[in-house]
Amino acid sequence: MLGACYYPEHWDESRWSQDAARMAAMGISHVRIGEFAWSRIEPRRDAFDFGWLDRAMDVLAGAGLKIVLGTPTATPPKWLVDEAPEILPHDRDGRPRAFGSRRHYTFSSARWRDESARIVTVLADRYGAHPGLVGWQTDNEYGCHDTVLSWGPEDRRAFRDWLRRRHQTVDQLNEAWSAVFWSQEVGDFDAVELPCATVADINPAALMDFRRFKSEEVAAYNALQCAIIRERSPGRWITHNFMGFFADFDHFDLSRDLDFATWDSYPTGFLEVFPFSEPERDRWARTSHPDVAPFHHDLYRAVGKGRFWVMEQQPGPVNWAPWNPVPAPGMVRLWTWEAIAHGAEVVSYFRWRQAPFAQEQLHAGLNLPGLDELSPGGLEAAQVAREIEALGPLPPSAPARVALVFDYPSQWAVAIQPQGRDFSYLELAFRWYEALRRLGLDVDFRRAGDSLAGYALVVIPCVVEATPALHASLADSDAVVLIGPRSGSRTRHFALPAALPPGPLGDLTGNRVIQVSTLRPGLSDPVTGQISGKAIRWREYLETTAEVLARFADGTAALTRKNRIRYLACWPDEALLAAVMAEAADAAGLRTTPVPAHIRLRHRGDLCFAFNYGDQPWTLPKGAMPCLGGTEVAPRGLSVWRAV
Ligand code: GAL
Repeated sequence: MLGACYYPEHWDESRWSQDAARMAAMGISHVRIGEFAWSRIEPRRDAFDFGWLDRAMDVLAGAGLKIVLGTPTATPPKWLVDEAPEILPHDRDGRPRAFGSRRHYTFSSARWRDESARIVTVLADRYGAHPGLVGWQTDNEYGCHDTVLSWGPEDRRAFRDWLRRRHQTVDQLNEAWSAVFWSQEVGDFDAVELPCATVADINPAALMDFRRFKSEEVAAYNALQCAIIRERSPGRWITHNFMGFFADFDHFDLSRDLDFATWDSYPTGFLEVFPFSEPERDRWARTSHPDVAPFHHDLYRAVGKGRFWVMEQQPGPVNWAPWNPVPAPGMVRLWTWEAIAHGAEVVSYFRWRQAPFAQEQLHAGLNLPGLDELSPGGLEAAQVAREIEALGPLPPSAPARVALVFDYPSQWAVAIQPQGRDFSYLELAFRWYEALRRLGLDVDFRRAGDSLAGYALVVIPCVVEATPALHASLADSDAVVLIGPRSGSRTRHFALPAALPPGPLGDLTGNRVIQVSTLRPGLSDPVTGQISGKAIRWREYLETTAEVLARFADGTAALTRKNRIRYLACWPDEALLAAVMAEAADAAGLRTTPVPAHIRLRHRGDLCFAFNYGDQPWTLPKGAMPCLGGTEVAPRGLSVWRAV
């Protein structure tokens, strides 16, 4: 169940067989290679050098390792950029972003699509039937380094084509965008400019279409690679390695062409870049926040249609966050088991050996820089391998009783029109997830509009556009449902719904939002009633025909209930959120196990896991007989027991 990311092109060939033998000996079964190796595979146009890769694949396969081959399209080589500079992405001021690192292409370049198809075809033909090859990774981390959006001539051309297909006539485009506002109407699709570099605010409907267009471009680009691989490499699966706290394209759309999802887990780095408070960052600096990795395991299990791996697991300090601490001893082991508890099929470490050269020389590997000697994280990985062996086969992950509805377009919509600087869709979703897990609950993610059958509790932190599919899934479900602020607040074309928000959800909730107010840090609105706490950041002014469970100080409704459906009209502080979730879970008949801030629980089949992210031991629930760890869960440790 363990893997390693390996770069044979970084090491002298004489070291490969020993590397492979050491991987196999420590319990690594999978090895991912090739995703940045274009300049070695094709040093000049059509001058292919397959010799080294043939030998590397044979050596790895010879040691019994299962190979995942990455297509090398994240790194177009210099000769190609010189030949076809139009493939480069452009920044918001329309300047090309330069060669010299990676991901220097725009998804919308026609030439780039041809070049990608060419290299993927060549590789799939050469290695598609290699006996050591089990699957493919397309590209590497689509969108990393802010590369989904691009504002160059190729992007403009492709955007106009997309608008033509989407809106058909220019009158319909003007209508959809309400372009009469500020005299933005155009007479031709070729008169549409990219939404950037303007004097004042850009029309939000135009921005939303640009985000949809780019999201579809990423999915189409991935589909192009997948179609080639499927045809030429039968019997091998295809995946992609997604990122953490990243929503610039709709991952559900893209994964239609994949067999399952993988993602890259860098918990301490994400702690530094996500909007955690400074006290939280201090507290969790060396462990990361206990929900950072699990949030993504659960999200990507849904994106992967029930199946996921961690393709890159942090094995020590990373190099790319503002601060890069050494993880607390035990955390590499804990993160690995946490992934397994959430259903990961394989956890693969980035990278086998720390590179003492180039851009990532301070990024840990399983081995010390340049050496054949396990790093502290490598020793923990070896321990996990022994523990997996001792524990025996793991049961599959069963569906949870709780679903969190996740919606990528809502992230774009809120970013386009925040209204309050600290309203982040991703953060809201994360906080709702955190509150559920503080109750000891397992959580499944569902895409907005997916069936919600089988769930006892459904939470919807925010879905800006409430589509007919979402409405139907809610009307059909018999779960207790909790809907959050800004839901149903915009139409497809980014206007307020005629009946006011929550638009199509008005009938289900009994509510109408007549005003919204954003609250600067330091301001809050008290909420009291059956539950209490404070509204921060955002509050709505409701008119309601529903039962009111809690009110703001001015007497207007803060939490309402109509039949099974609750609506929360604010961004709740921690106390309010905890109370709202506990009330909803109780109404749904769920048995909860409230846990302290540093403890998390998770079930995989009949196995129960407890993880301790803190520095105090924690005693397992009565009667638990651990098969791994003790009845006292050690700091930065875990225990596993079987449900009786
Ligand atoms: C990932 C990337 C890897 C490596 C790693 C460092 O985003 O896929 O190639 O750069 O980060 O943490």
